[in-house]
Amino acid sequence: MPLPAGLRSGLDRRVRFGDVSYDFHVRHGRTAWNDLRTRLDALDADRFVVVTDAGLPDSLVAATKVALGAVAPTQVVKAQADETEKTLGVLDQLAERALESGITRRSVVVALGGGVIGNIAGLLAALLFRGVRLVHLPTTLLGMSDSVLSLKQAVNSRCGKNHLGTFHTPALVWNNLDFLESLPADETRSALCEMIKNVLGIVPERYDEVAGMLRTDACYSPEDITRFIDLCVDAKTSVMRDDHTEKHEALVLEYGHTTGHAAELLTGGRLRHGFAIGIGMLAAARMSRELGLLDRSDEQAHRRLLELNGAPVQLPEGIDADSVLEVIRLDNKRGYVPGRTGAVDFILLEELGRVHRPDGKLITQVDEDTVRLGIESVLSDRYVLARV
Ligand SMILES: NC(=O)c1ccc[n+]([C@@H]2O[C@H](COP(=O)([O-])OP(=O)(O)OC[C@H]3O[C@@H](n4cnc5c(N)ncnc54)[C@H](O)[C@@H]3O)[C@@H](O)[C@H]2O)c1
Repeated sequence: MPLPAGLRSGLDRRVRFGDVSYDFHVRHGRTAWNDLRTRLDALDADRFVVVTDAGLPDSLVAATKVALGAVAPTQVVKAQADETEKTLGVLDQLAERALESGITRRSVVVALGGGVIGNIAGLLAALLFRGVRLVHLPTTLLGMSDSVLSLKQAVNSRCGKNHLGTFHTPALVWNNLDFLESLPADETRSALCEMIKNVLGIVPERYDEVAGMLRTDACYSPEDITRFIDLCVDAKTSVMRDDHTEKHEALVLEYGHTTGHAAELLTGGRLRHGFAIGIGMLAAARMSRELGLLDRSDEQAHRRLLELNGAPVQLPEGIDADSVLEVIRLDNKRGYVPGRTGAVDFILLEELGRVHRPDGKLITQVDEDTVRLGIESVLSDRYVLARV
C-alpha cells in the first residue's frame, strides 16, 4: 500500500486530549538534530535535566547532550530502565540530583529513554516545584507509539504497577527514528503488541492493512514505523479526546492490561510490557467468548495479529493461574465500579472495536472461575522466557 506523501519525510501532529495539547514530531536522518534544536530553542529553557537510561548506547546519549547543550546548560542523570527500578526511591534520588544541579521553574526535564524512563522523568517533572516542563525524546517504539501518547506518569509500588502517579502534559514530544537502530527486535515486537491492541479495540477497520505490514523478523522501514506511529496517534486521540485522564472511553486502552500487568509483575519485568499485554488480550478474549460476548473468529483475529508480529501467545513457564489471580485482585482498575466479591474488573470486547459496556461502563465484572479459565488458556509449559 503506498504511503501518504505526508508520512515520507516524517510526521507532525498536534495531539489534543481535552483542554490540553502538545506537538508531536517524528523525524529521521541528517536534518533531524537541527529540527530538535530549533524546537528546544523555542522553549526558552534556562537548563535541561536529561533523565536517561543507563542501558542506552553512549553515542546516542552523547549526541543528544550535544544537541541540547547548544541550546541551554544540560545535565544528564541516569537510571536503570528496569521495572524494579521504577520506584519512589529512585525518583527521590533523581530529584535530589536535579535540585543540586540548580534547576529553576524555567528548567525542562527531558526524558531520553523508553517507557520506563518516560514515566520516571514524567513524574519527576510533575513533582519538581509542583510542575516543570517535560520533553519526551523516546528511544523505544513503545515510547513513541504509546507511552508518550498519554498524560499518565507513574512509578510502581511493592503491590503493583503504576500505583503511584499523576497526570502531566509534555511540552513537546520529539521522536527520532534513528534512535531505534540499536533497539533489540523483541522491543519492536513488544511495542507492536500495543498497536495491535489499538487495532483490535479501537480501529478494526485497519486490521487488514496492519496484517499485511507485520513481519516476524521485525525489520521495518522508517516509513512503515511512521505509519504504525500515526495509527497509534489516531487511535489514542480518538478515545482520549474527551477523556484525557483515561477513566471513561479511554479505558479501552487498558485492554489486556489486567492479566498483562500481573504477568509483568510476576516475571519482575522480564516479560516485555507489550508481550504481556498481548497475552493478556488473549486471556480476555477467551473470557469474552466464555461469557458469550465474542465469537470465535474475533478471538482468532487476536492470535493472528500477534503471531504475524512474532509475539508470544502464552505466559512464560513457571507462572501459574493462582499467582496471576492473586496479583489481579490488586489491579489498579479497581474502584471504577463498586467492587463485587469473587469478581475481577476487566475490559472485554463484544466484537472487534466494540467494548462490552454493562450499565454503560467499560468495566465488566468477571467471576473468578471465568478469569481462571482465561488465564489457564494462556498458561504454558512450552514458552520459556529468555534469560536477560
Ligand atoms: N504512561 C503510559 O500511559 C504508559 C503507556 C505504556 C507503557 N508505559 C510504561 O512503559 C514501560 C515500558 O516501556 P518500554 O517498553 O519502552 O521499556 P523500557 O523503557 O524498559 O525499554 C526497553 C529496553 O530497551 C532498552 N532501550 C531503550 N531504548 C533503546 C535503544 N534506542 N537502543 C537500545 N536499547 C534501548 C532499555 O534499556 C530497556 O532494556 C512500562 O513501565 C509501562 O508501564 C506507560
